[in-house]
Amino acid sequence: MKTYLVTGGAGFIGSNFIHYMLGKYGDSIEIINVDKLTYAGNLENLKDVENLPNYHFVKADICDKDAIRAVFHDYDVDRVIHFAAESHVDRSIREPELFVKTNVLGTANMLNCAKEAWELPDGSFREGKKFCHVSTDEVYGSLPEDPDAYFYETTPYQPHSPYSASKASSDMLVKAYHDTYGFPMNITNCSNNYGPYQFPEKLIPLMINNALAGRKLPVYGDGRNVRDWLYVEDHCKAIDLVSEKGISGETYNVGGHNEKQNIEIVKTIIEVLREELSDDDPRKANVSEDLIEYVEDRKGHDRRYAIAPDKIHKELGWLPETMFREGIRMTIKWYFDHMDWMEHITSGNYQQYYEKMYGDRKVIG
Ligand code: NAD
Ligand code: TYD
Repeated sequence: MKTYLVTGGAGFIGSNFIHYMLGKYGDSIEIINVDKLTYAGNLENLKDVENLPNYHFVKADICDKDAIRAVFHDYDVDRVIHFAAESHVDRSIREPELFVKTNVLGTANMLNCAKEAWELPDGSFREGKKFCHVSTDEVYGSLPEDPDAYFYETTPYQPHSPYSASKASSDMLVKAYHDTYGFPMNITNCSNNYGPYQFPEKLIPLMINNALAGRKLPVYGDGRNVRDWLYVEDHCKAIDLVSEKGISGETYNVGGHNEKQNIEIVKTIIEVLREELSDDDPRKANVSEDLIEYVEDRKGHDRRYAIAPDKIHKELGWLPETMFREGIRMTIKWYFDHMDWMEHITSGNYQQYYEKMYGDRKVIG
């Protein structure tokens, strides 16, 4: 039985990953979910698995040495799947130090505790152990609009936001543990994810939520920044594959070959919402392109991200499976079926967040 220590498992990708893994492997694996439950962590995401005997939740901060050491003491962990992070660029612009603390120091603590648990007296590591660090394409910086330019595993790091700089630092630390100690690890650098359980601070769920409420859809700058969107389950499959078959020390880029301008995404959401809402649903009348409002740009806004996933395809056989329009439709239907989930997380603190981020943003068109 393989034991997975998943950090940040109550967040968006982490909770999708736990569902995917328990669905695929059933009771032949054990999962320990370590999460601090920040604003982004929500145990409601895991309601349907919380009573399984092979799933355990530990509320802890990844920066807490004693708490993380205790998890490695209590369980014989085979894999760390390290998701826990502060993940939102706009928040990092307002509060950079929190990103350094969680993403850099938290990762350093996870590495130290794993090394301590897995290292043998001769300096080698116990068989079958590996640390899989989940990272982002944003570490590579921004690409020109040239459609032939892509991020490869060999592209030099050039992060621009406090978020991407902190993730880049954490990637470097993970690599340094491999190069210095022979520590068993992989890094995945993935493009933008979308799908169920994503917190409505990120583009796609924010637009779905606002459109359904008849609120303005705030598009930053000229709306032509490009992101490469991947359905979250495809990302989970890639992480599982890398965890199983990835060669220690290697990095794998994960992406959907699905580049879209932000404005195209917003218009697609409006179209699919209109197709999915029945004619007698009062929300349908609100959902139109009239809601689009161009607002003051994000500071330091990266223009284009585009991943070349050639290595993970050629070496491990991974390919994205979900077409974008189908993925957006599934996501929208999921939000329709989980309006109570959305209501719970958008009450209270979310209103203050929204006011702080968007309240004084200049409208430019
Ligand atoms: P998220 O913000 O939805 O979830 C983060 C989770 O980490 C939350 O459950 C939160 O409670 C937990 N957490 C935060 N600080 C913690 C701490 N100090 N100790 C313990 N737990 C803590 O993030 P996400 O979108 O699911 O992203 C997960 C990982 O994937 C991140 O490392 C992110 O950089 C990476 N990633 C995300 C995307 C994306 O599009 N969302 C793309 C590529 C890579
Ligand atoms: P986001 O979902 O925050 O992901 P990231 O910044 O990590 O790529 O944003 C995706 C794109 O959408 C990015 O170019 C910023 C833009 N955006 C808006 O135009 N309006 C919004 O309200 C948000 C949250 C994002």
